Parts: sequence; C-alpha cells; structure tokens
Amino acid sequence: MWPYHSDLLRVPVPRYTSFPTAAEFGPIDGCDYREALENVSGDVSLYVHIPFCEKICFYCGCNTGAAGRRQRLTAYLDALHREIMAVSALLPAGTRVTRLSFGGGSPNAIAPTDFIRLVDLLTVRFGLVDPVCSIELDPRTMSPQWAQAIARVGIARASLGVQTFAAHCQHRIGRVQSEDMIVATTDSLREAGVTSLNFDLMYGLPGQTRDDLLDSLHRTRVLHADRVALFGYAHVPHIVPRQRVIDSDAMPDQAERFAMAQLGFDYLVTHGYAPVGFDHFALAGRDPLARAALGGRLHRNFQGFTDDDAPNLIGLGASAISAFPHLLVQNEKNGGRYRMRVDAGGLAPERGAHRGAEDRSRGAIIEGLLCHGRATLPPRIRAQSDARLAPFVARGLVEMAGDTLIIAPGGLPYARTVAAIFDPYRAESARRFSSAV
Ligand SMILES: C[S@@+](CC[C@H](N)C(=O)[O-])C[C@H]1O[C@@H](n2cnc3c(N)ncnc32)[C@H](O)[C@@H]1O
Ligand code: SF4
Repeated sequence: MWPYHSDLLRVPVPRYTSFPTAAEFGPIDGCDYREALENVSGDVSLYVHIPFCEKICFYCGCNTGAAGRRQRLTAYLDALHREIMAVSALLPAGTRVTRLSFGGGSPNAIAPTDFIRLVDLLTVRFGLVDPVCSIELDPRTMSPQWAQAIARVGIARASLGVQTFAAHCQHRIGRVQSEDMIVATTDSLREAGVTSLNFDLMYGLPGQTRDDLLDSLHRTRVLHADRVALFGYAHVPHIVPRQRVIDSDAMPDQAERFAMAQLGFDYLVTHGYAPVGFDHFALAGRDPLARAALGGRLHRNFQGFTDDDAPNLIGLGASAISAFPHLLVQNEKNGGRYRMRVDAGGLAPERGAHRGAEDRSRGAIIEGLLCHGRATLPPRIRAQSDARLAPFVARGLVEMAGDTLIIAPGGLPYARTVAAIFDPYRAESARRFSSAV
C-alpha cells in the first residue's frame, strides 16, 4: 500500500519530460539552433509532429487541431518537407539516425500515401538505415490502407489512444470508440508486424469509478498490450480551454485519484507488467522498455519514458522540440506561422533554453529519480535540498544512502514532487502544471 499524504501532493509539479521544462523556454537565437545542427555529435533520434486529428477530444492537452480540409494538411506537409530538406542539409555528413518517431495529434490523420512520401523523403535525406520506428495512432481513424503503410515502412512500435473502455466516461470526455474498434485495430497492427503495442489509458476521468478502471486494465491485458501508459487526467482548463466542457464536479478528488493510481499499479504488476518510471508499464522480461528499466538504461524525453539513448533529438514540424546536450529548441507552435517561418528560412525555431553545467547536473538528478528511483547528490545540492527533503524522509518516502537519494517503494507516487525539489525554477508558477498523481 502506498501511504497517502495529501499535503505533499497539493502543489502541482511538471512532468519533467525535459529539464529545464518548456515553462522555462524563452526567445532563442535561430543561429544557435543552426549551429547545434551543424555540430551534432553522436547518434540522432528524429521526431516528426503531425498536429491534426479527425476529431478533437475534450480533454486533450496536446498541440493538435481538427484535420479539416485536405488543403490544410497538404500545406502543412509541404512545409514539413521543406523543413526536412533544410535540417538534413545542415547535419554533418555521416550522422547516424537510430530512431524515427511519429507523434501528434494523430499521424494517421494524414493519408497513408502522404505518410509513405514523408518516410521516403526522410529516408533519402537522412540516409536512414533500419532505424527503430514508432508511431502514435488514433484507433478511430485506422484503415486497412494505414495498416499496409505501417507494414511497408516496417514500424515495430505503435501506441494507441485507448483512454477508457467505459462508454459513460467516453461520452463525458468526447472520445467515443467501441471495443470492437480497438480489437480490430490491434489485430491489424499485429498483422502489419507491430511487435510492441502500447495502450494509453487514463484515470481521474469524470464519472470514472475504480471498477471502470479495473475493467479497462483487464481488457488491455486480454488484448495483450505490450506496454501501458497510465496517465492521471490533467485537468487544466485555464491553459487548455477545450477542457472547459468537461464536468469537473464529476471528476474523482485527489484521494480517489491516488487510490486509482495505486489500483492501476497493483493490477499491472501482478499481471506480468514491470513498472517503468512512474506511469508506464511494460511486459516484464519481454518488451524492450521493461528490459531497459531493469538494466538501468531508461531515459525520459518529450515522448515519456524511453529506451532511446541517442544524445540528440531533432523535432520536425510545428511545436516539435529538439534536445541537444547544451540546447533545447521548440519550433513555432502555430501551424500558419510555422509554414511562414519555414517558407522564409527553412527552419522554424521559436523558443528554447540553453543548458548550462548547473542545469545539466540538476537535470541528471531529476532524470535519475524519475527513471531509476535514485540519484547521487553533490554536497552543495544536498545542503540546499535537505530541509525540503525532510518531510519525505520523516515519512519514509525517501532515504539517503551515503550521498545517494533513494525513493522508497511507497514513495513512487511522490517521485515528481521529490524531483521538483531539485528544480530551482519551481519556486513560483505551479499553476501551469498538473498534480503529481
Ligand atoms: C498524441 S495522443 C495519442 C494518440 C492519438 N492522438 C489518440 O489519442 O488516439 C497522446 C496521449 O496523451 C494523453 N493525454 C492527452 N491529454 C491528456 C490530459 N489532459 N491528461 C492526461 N493525459 C492526456 C492521452 O492518453 C493520449 O492518448
Ligand atoms: S487525445 Fe489524441 S485523438 Fe484526441 S485530440 Fe488529443 S491527440 Fe487527437
């Protein structure tokens, strides 16, 4: 049983998919991005953002919009092609791309033929040789043609937005999809050669009960999902206006959310899944993510917990984020302005942050705590954090072993809150984030 301490969970904290977080991003000089591309050293991961979905869900916090008319998608894809040409021209000759990920939005909001053309261009321009390929998919817009495209490209890892199987919750969150649709999508992806299939599930939804959650977890297991991402619904209508239509009175309170997180954890770990970080799970001993977690090779990036160890991530498309050891860069978020920026100069960097030695050292502590449940604290940082760690130590949620801070098994739901102690930018501005559980 995880101990519940409401006072320690009250302050919203970042998800720490980067450090510094996107909340710290400010204006950056486009020349810095260009220089980072020209001086890339080591392997590269590519992330391609498709900011469209056929139907927009009420709860969604992602940067996406309605696919609408085909002309809009074509204009976006044209700009994306131009950005790919520009970025690939800047990389040093011989740069090796080890991963290719498509996310969104819903990459399958575009036509499969457009997707194949996009992959062909990426293959030629970046000299791709059998990278690990992954894609996020909306089951509502899957088609046999899309399954064929996935088979043709050789995508081994796919992630489906399932959220919940409970019909009454689906209506409340504007995300209606039948179980038959999930089953058919799962079957078609397996036939297409997907070997690692993730289901995104959510708890904390309006009207959702523990039985609803248990039922969704059970169906997920029966469908043999290799991975599960179990997200606590982040309700932040002051940042995401589309969430205003969600009935917040029907949402479980913090204590109930905590119980749901515990229920999800217990169910999955007693049914063959290994915990990966604080909200991912993967089939123990079988899935590469579970093996990475066990082997201490887990990382955290903008896509969540990952076994990707490339030192450079290049994001392509509107709002996509690139991460280099010394620099984080986010592309222009607005689709129209992204197209104009790419038309004008090929690249579209808009905001970002330089990572100095102090940021890198604190980022390593935060990543260590979230990915491995432990981190070595340099004496100066330990001295600064002792007082804020005290309540967690007193309640047995963390412990010090020499200079190593260890999160106790019952401290897992507090991992983000403990990590935030090492984030000097967090003194203010909590309103931008969601609760840790
Ligand atoms: C890019 S989508 C996944 C693929 C596809 N667009 C779909 O929904 O089927 C990313 C995931 O983020 C999660 N998500 C979106 N908004 C969220 C929120 N407000 N709180 C928690 N999770 C959220 C959902 O689980 C969703 O599946
Ligand atoms: S959850 Fe997925 S399908 Fe729904 S709006 Fe967000 S990105 Fe689109």
